[in-house]
Amino acid sequence: MEMVRLDPPAELTMSIGEVMFSQRATRRLDSDRSVTDAQLQIILDAASKAPHGGDSLSARYLVIRDRGAIDAFGKLYFEAWWAKRRDAYGWTSKADIPEGSHYRLAALLADEMVNAPVVILVYSKPSRVAASSAFPGIQNLLLAARALGLGSVLTTLHPDVMERVDAMFGVPEGMEFHCCIPIGYPRGKFGPTSRLPTSATTSWDRWGQPPPWK
Ligand SMILES: Cc1cc2nc3c(=O)[nH]c(=O)nc-3n(C[C@H](O)[C@H](O)[C@H](O)COP(=O)(O)O)c2cc1C
Repeated sequence: MEMVRLDPPAELTMSIGEVMFSQRATRRLDSDRSVTDAQLQIILDAASKAPHGGDSLSARYLVIRDRGAIDAFGKLYFEAWWAKRRDAYGWTSKADIPEGSHYRLAALLADEMVNAPVVILVYSKPSRVAASSAFPGIQNLLLAARALGLGSVLTTLHPDVMERVDAMFGVPEGMEFHCCIPIGYPRGKFGPTSRLPTSATTSWDRWGQPPPWK
């Protein structure tokens, strides 16, 4: 297959610092505001520029735009979300999720997936480095979406629904599924993220030795 070189798109003007430090999981998406094909091309071009193992170039992206298809996929996502919580914790409804658990937010996505203007499913062709080569591209995709003012969230599925998802979109046998990413303009406001301090997650020269900052 012929390779292409791409110039940086003029639309990506947000600074890399602002993009990285303001990117966050956005679960409430505006179903009435559409995402253009040109925006999706920028997002996918950005994904294509990411590092990948060896010469694998194995990541493949399935963009779902059709409203009916997103409705049908959203129902499967809802089933998958609850199947994962049932397997992990025995939860079957929101009432089972403990107060203060981050799963209260994540459960919102099970309801919200049907509202996404676009959903991207990320797969790989069979490869030794399928997942590790797909995720740098996935991160580029999330960052490019943010730089265009779009919200997104990375999420996974459950084996219970995988066959039906693949059949729904004609995914060939042998493709490895990684994640699905709904994309759209955020509905409502979203604040900054908080994370562990890097002084607590980083060792310096020897495991357990702190870095030179607090
Ligand atoms: C591997 C992976 C799986 C995830 N699965 C879900 C999910 O099932 N549902 C969901 O709402 N968010 C999911 N997320 C998003 C995370 O909850 C989110 O990135 C994390 O809480 C940080 O959110 P923040 O950037 O808004 O602080 C997933 C993220 C990753 C990297």
